[in-house]
Amino acid sequence: MSIFIVLVLLSAFCWAPSPAMRSSTLHLARSHSFSPDAGAPITTWAASLAAQSAADAARIATLVASSGGSTKKGHHRSFVPIAPGRQILSIPNYVARARLGTPPQTLVVAIDPSNDAAWVPCTGCASASSSPPFAPTRSSTYRPVRCGSPQCAQVPNPSCPRGAATSCAFNLTYASSAFEALLGQDTLALENDAVASYTFGCLHVVTGVPPQGLVGFGRGALSFPSQTKDMYGSVFSYCLPSYRSSNFSGTLRLGPIGQPKRIKTTPLLSNPHRPSLYYVNMTGIRVGGKPVPVPASALASFDPASGRGGTIVDAGTMFTRLSAPAYAAVRDAFRRRVRAPAVAPLGGFDTCYNATAVSSVPVTVPSVAFTFEGAVTVTMPEENVVIRSSSGGVACLAMAAAPADGVDAALNVVASVQQQNHRVLFDVANGRVGFARELCTA
Ligand SMILES: *[C@@H]1O[C@H](CO)[C@@H](O)[C@H](O)[C@H]1NC(C)=O
Ligand SMILES: *[C@@H]1O[C@H](CO)[C@@H](O)[C@H](O)[C@H]1NC(C)=O
Ligand SMILES: *[C@@H]1O[C@H](CO)[C@@H](O)[C@H](O)[C@H]1NC(C)=O
Ligand SMILES: *[C@@H]1O[C@H](CO)[C@@H](O)[C@H](O)[C@H]1NC(C)=O
Repeated sequence: MSIFIVLVLLSAFCWAPSPAMRSSTLHLARSHSFSPDAGAPITTWAASLAAQSAADAARIATLVASSGGSTKKGHHRSFVPIAPGRQILSIPNYVARARLGTPPQTLVVAIDPSNDAAWVPCTGCASASSSPPFAPTRSSTYRPVRCGSPQCAQVPNPSCPRGAATSCAFNLTYASSAFEALLGQDTLALENDAVASYTFGCLHVVTGVPPQGLVGFGRGALSFPSQTKDMYGSVFSYCLPSYRSSNFSGTLRLGPIGQPKRIKTTPLLSNPHRPSLYYVNMTGIRVGGKPVPVPASALASFDPASGRGGTIVDAGTMFTRLSAPAYAAVRDAFRRRVRAPAVAPLGGFDTCYNATAVSSVPVTVPSVAFTFEGAVTVTMPEENVVIRSSSGGVACLAMAAAPADGVDAALNVVASVQQQNHRVLFDVANGRVGFARELCTA
């Protein structure tokens, strides 16, 4: 009966994008396909970088807040293979294979540490074409979540489109899409362990680009670490392979068992204004081993009164963004160290060099190091510092300044290119975030 109601809602309310939306979908999908090493002309590369930079900015502006999770210890472990979504799906997030329902239906889902909710494309609704949509009717374990249930109070912008006795829905804006999803529960497995009654949204109405299925790894009540805290104890880590790789050679490790024993950790901070996000205390930046004169206010922790500022670790933003004074200091120090001929800014990047093989001065890239409270220093070699177009022969400092205004003007985001080939541990149970170098690009 309940499944029947959901079906009626799906077929009655979900419509395909209008022709205008379709063309915008195509346009965006094209500008998102980003492969500097695929022999693309510089202009295409610049356009795609610009698009990615814009997407990063839009993302930072819409990171969703939700309520906090708790910290009970779990005993399971699971190693989930992950790959960059850029090559496979033209999205900035890393992706994993998930199995949803009974019998299991396989889906590719984005992993997002700065978001709590999960959603998947469902039959009858516009979907990203990467994998067939989830069909709730073909799962014997799917249940809609009713209006008035506790989960319905945890989603962003909840509504009851068909009255109080029906399925709870929620609206969200994410990347280039806005959608309404119907809340439901089913068995979800990432690699080994099946999680019964996992709460997620079934995409119902989509405006703009149909979003990829996604599992939120934020800190709120509906995130994967919170919904599985009895299994995995709110502990996970990942190693992100190079964004150029197309192999599932990275791992998302779930649970406290199997995490690195020796890893340097810094305290995890909680910002009550943005409780989903993983805040850390960045205390300094070095370029080529030398401390950069960053004004203390540019790295200071978030302001407790307004929630502005501070530093988060995020894997759904590609390029690190630093508040304007911090970025200016890093960029100036970087420019002083690099002797190669500078070229015009490219995409969102303002510090670019001629890196052709025949260039008289090769680009020698200084390391960049971020230091966090607890004397944790993450030293990033060239692959985490510059982005190169092998065809065009241009190398750019792969970081940018935070937006000039808005709530995120002072927010520093340690993004995925800077985390590639590092293991990053999110130990929510013990309030810490760890970093260790680890090669995971195949
Ligand atoms: C949610 O999205 C749907 C479809 O776009 C819209 O009709 C509805 O008004 C939205 N609800 C809220 C609460 O914003
Ligand atoms: C880089 O330098 C080479 C050799 O001097 C030159 O042929 C090429 O046009 C330069 N590329 C850019 C983007 O300036
Ligand atoms: C950040 O770390 C610095 C240096 O250890 C310390 O003085 C400061 O109190 C820390 N800030 C927060 C919010 O923990
Ligand atoms: C992906 O992995 C396979 C073996 O696991 C290897 O043969 C192949 O070269 C890898 N591809 C890339 C692009 O590294």
